[in-house]
Amino acid sequence: MKFHNLTAVSLWVLMLFSCSGTAGDEPLRDVVERGYDVATRQALMMARELEPLEGALPRTVEEDGTLATAEYHAWISGFFPGVLWYLYEHAPSDELKSYAELYTARVEPAKNQTNTHDLGFMLYCSFGNGYRLTGNPRYLEVMETGARSLTTRYDPGVGLIRSWDSFREQWQYAVIIDNMMNLEFLSFIARETGRDEYMEMAVSHADKTLEHHFRPDNSSFHVVSYDTVTGLPHVKNTHQGLDDSSAWARGQAWALYGYTMMYRETGDRAYLEKARDVAAFLMSHPRMPEDLVPYWDFDDPGIPDVPRDASSAAIMASALIELSELDDSPEAVRYLDYAVVQVRSLSSPGYLAEPGTNGGFILKHSTGNLPGGSEIDVPLTYADYYYVEALGRLKKYILTGGRE
Ligand code: GLY
Repeated sequence: MKFHNLTAVSLWVLMLFSCSGTAGDEPLRDVVERGYDVATRQALMMARELEPLEGALPRTVEEDGTLATAEYHAWISGFFPGVLWYLYEHAPSDELKSYAELYTARVEPAKNQTNTHDLGFMLYCSFGNGYRLTGNPRYLEVMETGARSLTTRYDPGVGLIRSWDSFREQWQYAVIIDNMMNLEFLSFIARETGRDEYMEMAVSHADKTLEHHFRPDNSSFHVVSYDTVTGLPHVKNTHQGLDDSSAWARGQAWALYGYTMMYRETGDRAYLEKARDVAAFLMSHPRMPEDLVPYWDFDDPGIPDVPRDASSAAIMASALIELSELDDSPEAVRYLDYAVVQVRSLSSPGYLAEPGTNGGFILKHSTGNLPGGSEIDVPLTYADYYYVEALGRLKKYILTGGRE
């Protein structure tokens, strides 16, 4: 969707939600401001609490209510600094900036890791946002090192970045759908440094994932493992979903976000088509709840009595807002409409924390790894990141009527 159409869309969305007589009565502008207000209070509380704990970054809340933290090597390490940068971007203050710098610095040792594919999450959400907002050349150096580390995991014979080194007896070369999220980092570094090979790797990864990771209904497998000799899949499984044939909610959200982002980065309409197809799968799913915050897996037979995953809704909303802005078809309006409902749901008392509670996290009710028995119906730092990102996109694309 071109920018000039957005004004009409935004008016349409605002009208829809101011005339509905439902929870949508609150003007969208106020929802976004309220979300930012809660997010800022929570993030500053968290930042002050963790400051004395060297290297600590927030992850979730344990069953006994204690805060669970992680260090730089965890896949989630970059999200909290990213939240602080997004909040600083919305309402700059010295306190937010110094905390964003402090927690970003805690992630720096991740740049040398070659045993994880998650360097995009870790470094681009933290250093990437920091660089975008401050231009600090040191941040770019850190990311260049990290991108070099990430590309050691790319095998040209397979044409994909390997996700996991573990489970070798089961998977020769495991690639998870989540890995699409690292491609934005590679694309950015390719642009900044002129290293075209980084973009070629990103495109190859996106193309092969498009070819092999999706079912005929456009839902995505979680794990596809490739035969390292033929470069073709030898098994398609799950790790965090219900079973190999199920639609694990967050995996679908990563796919939607990943192909929307790759369309933005390349202009390749095959990626736009895939983003539209995944959006159609999600938006027409008969087991999507009324508030549009997915159950943790769309195929859990216990639905509706199973945990939700607010992180999936936040990732979806952020992606759909962008898709509505990029897409030039009449569907674009529906993406925005849907995302606005998701943001309204996440901003309601059922999901948005009462300030001072929830261990300092912003959202409640996410699910990390249900089959693994961990992080079920809890706050999660990445849910917070994509929620705040969605608020920023609503503000940028609709409420202030403009892009960067
Ligand atoms: N990338 C890990 C997850 O989505 O849980």
